[in-house]
Amino acid sequence: MIKYMKPMNNNEISAVEKIFTKGNWYHTFEFNELRSHGTFDYSEKIENLKIPNLSGMSVLDVGCSDGYFSYYFKDKLKAKKVLGIDYNQYDGSVNFDVLNNFMEEQSNKHRSHNDYSVLKEAYSVLGLNDSNKFNFIKKIFNLDIEFKKASIYNLEDLDNFDVTFCGSLLEHLRDPLTAIEQLYFKTKEFCIIDVSNPFNRLNILQLPILKYSGASGHFYRLSENATKLMMEKIGFKNVQIISKYKIKNLKHGNMQKHFVIYGEK
Ligand SMILES: C[S@@+](CC[C@H](N)C(=O)[O-])C[C@H]1O[C@@H](n2cnc3c(N)ncnc32)[C@H](O)[C@@H]1O
Repeated sequence: MIKYMKPMNNNEISAVEKIFTKGNWYHTFEFNELRSHGTFDYSEKIENLKIPNLSGMSVLDVGCSDGYFSYYFKDKLKAKKVLGIDYNQYDGSVNFDVLNNFMEEQSNKHRSHNDYSVLKEAYSVLGLNDSNKFNFIKKIFNLDIEFKKASIYNLEDLDNFDVTFCGSLLEHLRDPLTAIEQLYFKTKEFCIIDVSNPFNRLNILQLPILKYSGASGHFYRLSENATKLMMEKIGFKNVQIISKYKIKNLKHGNMQKHFVIYGEK
């Protein structure tokens, strides 16, 4: 699906190969014959999200990680401008909300996820000085998308965008309500939120449930109705579920459920 676009010398090609094959990836990307070993491979799933055409629109991708969705918005859905933001500092520090009690466990996990110390030379051949995969894919695929370090809890300094998108982040936050409100302030047309591991056992009752998960890197399992109610109370209109899908977590082998919810300004 994804092609090699930018002319490179042999050194650069070998650096790219190293980062693809030995790096730590959240999503599966394809580069010539190479595939990154992502936790999630969206290549057969991405259309299932039913994200509308973004032609001519500006998009803010909040919690963009390696830029898989930013790339999709720009390349396939024809967005005019895409800014990806993420709280990741790319120094091995913890990039998620964590209770103090879990900090040590999470610090060890996050440190081990940062591939910069192992691949520093390869990154520097490409003129990159940290392990930010968004900037890596931007560079090798020659993409007109931008990255900024920022937290969903404070989007004040950013421009407003026609579309805001937040994928698989809400459930990791200790305060999803403030996060949705921040998205609302930045949205000019509509907002799309993809929620993973929802609470859906009592879907039939349509209860607005946030079930505390007790896990170290995960706060709440949100029901569809909880997310809908939060979006509506914050001010979004015409709030609706636009799709549901399942995707395999390739690290742990389990299927994860998702729903995708849409709201207009
Ligand atoms: C589970 S990943 C989801 C990546 C991608 N959006 C997707 O849908 O596959 C969550 C991302 O949110 C980022 N993140 C965590 N807390 C954040 C915060 N407070 N503000 C912005 N990004 C955050 C993490 O660094 C991580 O890259």
